[in-house]
Amino acid sequence: MARVFSGIQPSGELHIGNYLGAIRNWVQLQDKYESFFSVVDYHAITGSYEPADLRRRTRDMAVSLLASGIDPEKCTLFVQSTVSEHTELAWIFNTVAPLGELERQTQFKDKASRQESILAGLLNYPVLQAADIALYLSDLIPVGEDQIQHLELAREIVRRWNAKFNVDYFIEPKPFLTPTRRIMGLDGQAKMSKSLGNTIGLLDEPSVVWDKLRPAVTDPARVKKSDPGTPEVCNIFQIHKAFSSPETVEHVANQCRTAGWGCIDCKRVLQSSMEAELGPIRARAKELRAAPEVVDDTLATGTIQAKKVASATLNEAKQIMGLR
Ligand code: TYM
Repeated sequence: MARVFSGIQPSGELHIGNYLGAIRNWVQLQDKYESFFSVVDYHAITGSYEPADLRRRTRDMAVSLLASGIDPEKCTLFVQSTVSEHTELAWIFNTVAPLGELERQTQFKDKASRQESILAGLLNYPVLQAADIALYLSDLIPVGEDQIQHLELAREIVRRWNAKFNVDYFIEPKPFLTPTRRIMGLDGQAKMSKSLGNTIGLLDEPSVVWDKLRPAVTDPARVKKSDPGTPEVCNIFQIHKAFSSPETVEHVANQCRTAGWGCIDCKRVLQSSMEAELGPIRARAKELRAAPEVVDDTLATGTIQAKKVASATLNEAKQIMGLR
């Protein structure tokens, strides 16, 4: 049976970009595959942060994932730093990871250009990601489009390690994308991302969602309400495709093309489609917040389950390498 692994940083907010690009797939895949999902806190310490804040964000992310439908009866959910094998294998992989490839990673280049002094952790970030995946001998990795380059590098690292020891032990992982592999931010300029402040949070109250949707960028060529619109180029229409029923999507497209509606009408329908899916998630998150011991127990069980697989893999890798 194929194994699934994926991770998410405790960035403080699960937004509809992460949700549509990755988490919705996690929820589907947990029914079909042996799945491991991790809140990757070690990935979140490559920049400056407040320790108490990180602790809170890690918990909040676990709550959001559980509320979104990640079911600990069906999969393993854990916090990365509680399974020390991740950093141990990352060191091992550092010894086969090509520096040139690390330096060519788009995310490294973007983030490094914003740092005064560039830290090695930022450069080696994808090596830890490769270790996350390899430890569970996972082949299917549900991610958004922005992670494809990191997965290609993970394949390269695994290939090099296998070749060095002349074995076929670690598996080359494949990305598994949703139809909504890249959700643009409400500014319509860049991918939706917490650091760019262009998100809708998964747990945002309806009034907050509306305050964000109302000014959100639509079809740039449509200036007046009476101008016909082009749904295909409108970011709001892309979000409709993710949240609204096929009938509603068709109706919205028709109303837009024929100028039957203004953009604000279209956004009102989107808000109600979103609320139908997100309302129950918000309610579950509220329940989970009121029961912190349930979340603690879930994560503690997840650590035990993950560690069992991770330590067996690491031991075998060490044997192969002559470290045992
Ligand atoms: P992170 O925390 O930035 O994002 C979590 C997941 O959400 C996807 N995503 C998006 N998808 C579509 N549109 C968007 N606007 C959008 N924003 C985020 C991401 O592609 C990702 O799947 N390095 C990873 C975490 C990680 C990981 C791993 C992933 C660590 N180890 C091993 C897979 C396997 C990251 O920072 O994701």
